[in-house]
Amino acid sequence: MRRTLAIAALLFSATAQAETPRDFLTRFEKEAGGAASAERGGRFFNSKQGGEWSCASCHTERPTQTGRHAKTDKAITPLAPAANAERFTDAAKVDKWFRRNCNDTANRLCSAQEKADVMAWLLALK
Ligand code: HEC
Repeated sequence: MRRTLAIAALLFSATAQAETPRDFLTRFEKEAGGAASAERGGRFFNSKQGGEWSCASCHTERPTQTGRHAKTDKAITPLAPAANAERFTDAAKVDKWFRRNCNDTANRLCSAQEKADVMAWLLALK
């Protein structure tokens, strides 16, 4: 009995820590108060939002492939979860880069709706 409890506790803490790309979609949709649109997300990702770059400038229009930093030319591993299991598993990382990259492309933070839409689009890529 005690062992079962210990295993259950372990399993629970493991799932409580690890976040999945779907968790982020759920979180952003909740914050936005509405459903995400993958189509809108793709449009947002691939077009300029007021700045010099779009998301695709660094992550490419097919983020299942390796990107390249528009300024430093450094390789960026694929952003789409289907091509990169490390993506969208760490809230601190996801929040930091959404903040930085939205500022770089739109000169402002992205709204929860925009993040939800981009998430839905990235999740739909195979
Ligand atoms: C100037 C280049 C550049 C642009 C433009 C850019 N990114 Fe990024 N992005 C990066 C780099 C560099 C990283 C961090 C390195 C890495 O994780 O590979 C990153 C990481 C991320 C991450 C972290 C994901 C994770 O869990 O690892 C997200 C989310 C992200 N970008 C979304 C976006 C979105 C959305 C846009 C458009 C609003 C965008 N990026 C535009 C360069 C860029």
